[in-house]
Amino acid sequence: MHIIKLNNVSKSYLEDKKKLQVLKSINLTVEEGEFVAITGTSGCGKSTLLHLIGLLDSPDSGEINLAGESCNSISNMEIFRNRNIGFIFQFHYLLDDFTALENVMIPLLVQGYKKAEAVKLASEVIISLGIGQRMHHFPNQLSGGEEQRIAIARAIVTKPKILLADEPSGNLDEETTQNVISILRDLNKKGLTIIFVTHDLNLVKEDDSHYTIKEGKLIQA
Ligand SMILES: Nc1ncnc2c1ncn2[C@@H]1O[C@H](COP(=O)(O)OP(=O)(O)OP(=O)(O)O)[C@@H](O)[C@H]1O
Ligand SMILES: [Mg+2]
Repeated sequence: MHIIKLNNVSKSYLEDKKKLQVLKSINLTVEEGEFVAITGTSGCGKSTLLHLIGLLDSPDSGEINLAGESCNSISNMEIFRNRNIGFIFQFHYLLDDFTALENVMIPLLVQGYKKAEAVKLASEVIISLGIGQRMHHFPNQLSGGEEQRIAIARAIVTKPKILLADEPSGNLDEETTQNVISILRDLNKKGLTIIFVTHDLNLVKEDDSHYTIKEGKLIQA
């Protein structure tokens, strides 16, 4: 089954009354369980594309279908996003005033989970990612790799159907990068559909569906 389908999706930004056409008529079909890698030079539109698929921004034209639903017809975007999509940002965007555990609990509380249940589920995910001993710390007390793993925990705690990862290892050392990537690979083996943006071609595997963006077009790499 197609879990993600983009039909002729275009996106531009307006800057000083000038139009910057970032994505031009993008088509993409992703099957359930696929691992999609998107590479391309800085500024080519990778984050823009991921934000559109993650319903954080809307296209100028074209259609996005997620989990069988046309996104033009979703009545409550927030709820749909919370239920279906996990997002790991290029910069992790943890909330500084909340502990690691609380950051991971937030998407569950949004879904209406009771606090005790949210604590239990969030702790389990954090422990499974190997950072249980840091869960009561605040983001500024964590290393970059720990913060990124907390961001992964936050993205997957609600068991989304789709995980969108925007350079999740961008600022990490070699070993921590491998650790973060192996977490994503494991999640994918368990069936999670992942779109993974990276500028590091070494992180792309032969079996991945590999695309690149060039002059606004998405092309098979
Ligand atoms: N909100 C915005 N307003 C205006 N221009 C934007 C906006 N967001 C992105 N852009 C521009 O759109 C283009 C694509 O940006 P995008 O962030 O998608 O690139 P990217 O491929 O993710 O780059 P990087 O690898 O550096 O993260 C860039 O030229 C960028 O300057
Ligand atoms: Mg980017």
